[in-house]
Amino acid sequence: MSRKSQRREIFAGNWKMYTTLSGALDLVKEIIDGLGDIANREVIVFPPAVHAREVVKACTGKISVGLQNMYFEKEGAFTGEISPLMVKDTGSRYILIGHSERRHVFGESDGMINKKVRAAYEYGLEPVVCVGELLDEREAGNSEKVVESQVRAACEGIGVDQMKKMIIAYEPVWAIGTGKVATPEVADSMHKSIRNVLAALYGNEIAAMVPILYGGSVKPDNIGGLFSLEDIDGVLVGGASLKAKSFLDIIHV
Ligand code: PGA
Repeated sequence: MSRKSQRREIFAGNWKMYTTLSGALDLVKEIIDGLGDIANREVIVFPPAVHAREVVKACTGKISVGLQNMYFEKEGAFTGEISPLMVKDTGSRYILIGHSERRHVFGESDGMINKKVRAAYEYGLEPVVCVGELLDEREAGNSEKVVESQVRAACEGIGVDQMKKMIIAYEPVWAIGTGKVATPEVADSMHKSIRNVLAALYGNEIAAMVPILYGGSVKPDNIGGLFSLEDIDGVLVGGASLKAKSFLDIIHV
């Protein structure tokens, strides 16, 4: 069976800490206007949380919305944090968890990421869980081991049915925002290794079902090589998702 008949194909844009509200709404409109027929491809945008509700309204069901981060408690004295209940309340469907900037700039541990994954399911959000190795971990030959332990930790206590709604994004940290994209072969080989970890944890059927996205300097000129590979089910795009034209060129690969 070809990948296209068994797995979802997902093109996601992570806007990070960019856009004002009017900029975000203009971007959504331009993306929707240029979308055309994308068959079964799914498009998700991850705007800054303060714009979420307006962006959800503007998306009119054509594209989905997720937020970039949340805390794992429902409510409480956690100044500056956003709860899963609040994310749900914006109308967002997805939540990005464990992005490398959260792990490495804000010090999020595997344990915290697992709590966030559990919280996502508890509140009916679909997690997009990011994993990826640092440059020195790759140079030391430890990439697979590092990513395997991130996947195992994120999935701790997560059941088979919940896994049917998980998306994983492999984003090698050395490729994020650096212009150094992983070669399609490097990315595909890591995606296969992630799928093997999922098979060991949940069996082949689930492993074959979970979409695994690649992220890290994805651009219109490198999407073709990446997306043509068997185990790359879509992409998580940072910089190139902030301009409608380049994001659309990626979606239309
Ligand atoms: P980039 O970011 O495409 O700008 O490298 C990817 C990401 O951080 O999700």
